[in-house]
Amino acid sequence: MKLDKSPSQIRNPKSQIGLGALNIIHAAQLVTLRGPARARRGSELSDLGIIRDGAVTIRNGIIEWVGPTDELPDKRAPEFDASGKVVLPGFVDSHTHAVFTRTRTDEFEWRIEGTPYMEILARGGGILSSVKATRETPTLHVQLAPRFFEHGTTTIEAKSGYGLNLETEIRMLEAMRAEQTLEVVPTYLGAHALPLEFVQYRSGFVDRVIDDLDTIAERKLAEFCDVFVEPGVFTTDEARRIFSKARSLGLHIKIHADEFQSSGGAALAVEVGATSADHLGAITDADIERIAESNVVATLLPATLFMMGEQRYAPARKLIGSGAAVALATDFNPGTSPTLNMQFVLSLACTQMKMTPAEAITASTINAACAVRREHRIGSIEQGKQADLGVYELPDYREIPYFAAVNFCVATFKRGELAWRKDSH
Ligand code: NIG
Ligand code: FE
Repeated sequence: MKLDKSPSQIRNPKSQIGLGALNIIHAAQLVTLRGPARARRGSELSDLGIIRDGAVTIRNGIIEWVGPTDELPDKRAPEFDASGKVVLPGFVDSHTHAVFTRTRTDEFEWRIEGTPYMEILARGGGILSSVKATRETPTLHVQLAPRFFEHGTTTIEAKSGYGLNLETEIRMLEAMRAEQTLEVVPTYLGAHALPLEFVQYRSGFVDRVIDDLDTIAERKLAEFCDVFVEPGVFTTDEARRIFSKARSLGLHIKIHADEFQSSGGAALAVEVGATSADHLGAITDADIERIAESNVVATLLPATLFMMGEQRYAPARKLIGSGAAVALATDFNPGTSPTLNMQFVLSLACTQMKMTPAEAITASTINAACAVRREHRIGSIEQGKQADLGVYELPDYREIPYFAAVNFCVATFKRGELAWRKDSH
């Protein structure tokens, strides 16, 4: 299937409230995540800062006041009644590959029949089939952007990496910049796979990724640089060379680390001072300790392993127990994780990785904001922060992961504007 944007009625929404003031009132649970603008670790992950019968005043896109509804200082503003509902900070989906062109349902069936993902890639399929389709498509965009709002997500990180040549990588990054409503944090993933034209000339490809970084940085097309470090893809030595150049140009680092096999990706993340190490399905005990003692956010992507039919998930309990800063994301992409629903990721985090609902919410809001270096602006409902909020038609936040695979989001605010509202609300 060739994907395209969803209907335009929920894109560039004509806000019913404008940019003035708004009071969201009577939230059964206003889940604030208040506290220091830094990653929460250990028992801090369980502290959601819930206000019962909570209210929020928003003015000019910024949160002006937060507290119990009966203490609301200015009652004159238009009201949004959240009676019986949970209000959360907008989800921050800190790892996606949301710029792509076609689905990969054929590959989905091959995997069901038993062909491993890495074997499909080695045969020139997988990521490389998305590369072919992306190179051939003249106009690129963030897929299904309005659907993120429908599911309570207000900020995403998105990676290039389906171009694997400068021209297409730039077009992917420009597509992220062109997205008007959803906030998109751009990451250059020029080393996502070895393109077919470089199979005989591996080091030449890595040299080219390094050279291309000059253009990416000069045009300010990306905030982060990522590399897929995995046996059969790129080595830690190759990634180290790429990151050294990226850092010298002021880019921050993310790593696809230990997704299927442990190959030193997590340790490299600590060594190079990465902002996050993502996947960690096969992280070793020694590397758990290294990550826990560092500032690297451990971003776990359980939907990927679920969609790959794996029985084994990242060791979230060990990571949290060791004091690591754990975040959750969808990894939305046409190959390994075709979901953009963070509520479903929360269900998987709870059932498969034994995170509590509170830990999962912290991991997908304030800790995920840390994974995109925006913890001072988003990730919690506090005075002075951007008014990015999701409203759920449930009275208890624990019901969000509990009702697996059902979307209970009925309204989403982005910078104080209504970005999505369910018809009946
Ligand atoms: O995070 N592992 C590398 N990248 C993606 C998959 C991308 C794809 O298959 O298209 C991931 O799983
Ligand atoms: Fe990924």
